[in-house]
Amino acid sequence: MTDLDHTTATDATGTAPQDGASIPTTMRAAVYDRYGPPEQVVSVRTVPVPELGADDVLVRVGAASVNALDWHLVTGLPMFARPTLGLRHPKRHVPGADMAGVVEAVGANVTRLGIGDRVFGEVPGGGFAEFVVAPADWLVPVPEGVGIEQAATLGVAAETALQGLRDWGGLRPGQRVLVNGASGGVGSFAVQLAKALGASHVTAVCSTRNVEAARRGGADRVVDYTRQDVRSLGDAFDLFFDNAGSLTLRDSRRLVAPKGTYVMVTSPKSTWLRPLPRMLSVPFFFAFSSQHAPAFKVASRSRADLELLARLAASGQLSPVLDRRWSLAEAAEALRVQGEFHARGKSVVIP
Ligand SMILES: NC(=O)c1ccc[n+]([C@@H]2O[C@H](COP(=O)([O-])OP(=O)(O)OC[C@H]3O[C@@H](n4cnc5c(N)ncnc54)[C@H](OP(=O)(O)O)[C@@H]3O)[C@@H](O)[C@H]2O)c1
Repeated sequence: MTDLDHTTATDATGTAPQDGASIPTTMRAAVYDRYGPPEQVVSVRTVPVPELGADDVLVRVGAASVNALDWHLVTGLPMFARPTLGLRHPKRHVPGADMAGVVEAVGANVTRLGIGDRVFGEVPGGGFAEFVVAPADWLVPVPEGVGIEQAATLGVAAETALQGLRDWGGLRPGQRVLVNGASGGVGSFAVQLAKALGASHVTAVCSTRNVEAARRGGADRVVDYTRQDVRSLGDAFDLFFDNAGSLTLRDSRRLVAPKGTYVMVTSPKSTWLRPLPRMLSVPFFFAFSSQHAPAFKVASRSRADLELLARLAASGQLSPVLDRRWSLAEAAEALRVQGEFHARGKSVVIP
């Protein structure tokens, strides 16, 4: 039994949706009840449309982005994350940590958003579904000129890049930045955001097929890691944003200039504990030098950041790199491919 099995139509709190007539009671959604490889545990089912609370909005999903986070939630890996994800069984049952769509109904207390508004942001219930319910406070209007598919990508990945560079890395105008893993979801945003935040020079590390995309994203120099070792540049950076974790901490430190900062947003993948020592030791590893490395952090949901990202997208300073469009029936395959961690920009599921 999933959380979804005991939800009913859209009116369980006594809150009358303003346009309830057009809302069905059931919907199609990608659902998983146990941890495992996406292709084994995720299937498309008919489930009740989630119930609308007084502070919520019901959104007809136009597109939901595919995140590394969704792969972790579905597989339950690495194991040490299980206390957060759900010890024996997943806490969440529909993948899709962020989405964009159109408001179909609003709860009684909601004044910020109205029916027909195009909105995007993180959602608690899972965006790989025809409808999703989210607190109105979590969502932000999609600005004019920005498509629904683009907006769907501006959640977790872009927030991670923004918070990693600006908050954890303290990026200041005029600094030189290295982005390792520059071509996937987080990395493609990191290159563009580093420039938007005023970096004077951005070096992007990615594989051959993504070199052009990284250049288009504004990178001043692109290192194809299949042909050149970034260590051979003999360069050091004010901020090293590490979205790949492919170098040892010792080598990573050599790439950071005196008084510079190393920000690690990921660690090599494993089933059990392998990433933990690296994640825990980062600040200590940099403690006895002039360089700095904050503790490993997870990006937090922020409406102010979503609004900033929306403005940057509307002004053209941020242009999501859209790779694949998957149908809902292909949701499991979309997650399997994401789990290879060689994504090119962002992909979306269109319910
Ligand atoms: N801390 C947080 O809050 C947070 C939030 C979101 C994501 N993450 C983590 O951040 C990581 C990246 O997420 P994502 O969504 O960007 O994943 P993604 O879209 O799959 O991107 C991974 C990128 O890493 C690159 N890469 C793989 N091996 C590399 C290597 N040896 N050297 C340099 N680059 C390499 C890949 O490029 P090629 O295909 O060109 O190899 C790909 O572009 C994931 O591990 C995720 O779990 C953390």
